[in-house]
Amino acid sequence: MLTIAIAKGRLQQDALELLARAGVRASREALASRRLAVEDEGGRCRFVFVKPADVPVYVEHGIADCGVVGRDVLLESGADVLQPLDLKIAYCRIAVAAREDAGIGRAGVLHVATKYPRIAARHFGSRGVPVEIIELSGSVELAPVTGLADCIVDLVETGRTLAENGLVVVETITESTARFVVNRASYQLKAAAVGEIIRALGRAVEERGKGA
Ligand code: PRP
Repeated sequence: MLTIAIAKGRLQQDALELLARAGVRASREALASRRLAVEDEGGRCRFVFVKPADVPVYVEHGIADCGVVGRDVLLESGADVLQPLDLKIAYCRIAVAAREDAGIGRAGVLHVATKYPRIAARHFGSRGVPVEIIELSGSVELAPVTGLADCIVDLVETGRTLAENGLVVVETITESTARFVVNRASYQLKAAAVGEIIRALGRAVEERGKGA
């Protein structure tokens, strides 16, 4: 049996729909429950639902053979997992944003609030911009509004949270979609099952892209 770790939250529903198209489906009742580990109807897979940042941890350690998680999270985690498939769902950008009236980067150390300290440090580091990274766990947009930071590095999906808090994108760092990731050992040891699900998911992604 394959264990698949699914990131809870924004990509969960689309990920489960893609997996269902690929023939791996948990019952409605199991999904409606508060159980964090559920089997698919065919008894081939077990889903575990975890916080996005924990998906690479479960997969790298081999507790889950596979996982579905955003590229943003993978970039931040740096986990050593295989990424054989872009699921083309949960599109978003990782961007630098600031108050509309802020002139960031004029002088001194830039204070950057973020849930993505590694991505932020790499981005500004590569430009030689001195920064102090202020790590937050949520509601990051509040930081420039309250004066905690000059700017933020955060995920932008619709742009609504930025707009409603008077912030604008200064620069897009990178784009992100959900990825199907695989543990290195599982890729070899469970090659048949892993290969089958990658192929089925690949077809499901294509069908979805054609609007089927
Ligand atoms: C994310 C992100 C932004 C928001 C962007 O937060 O950190 O706040 O979504 O989405 P939008 O561009 O569609 O408005 P999330 O909902 O994960 O909650 P959090 O602030 O608690 O991290």
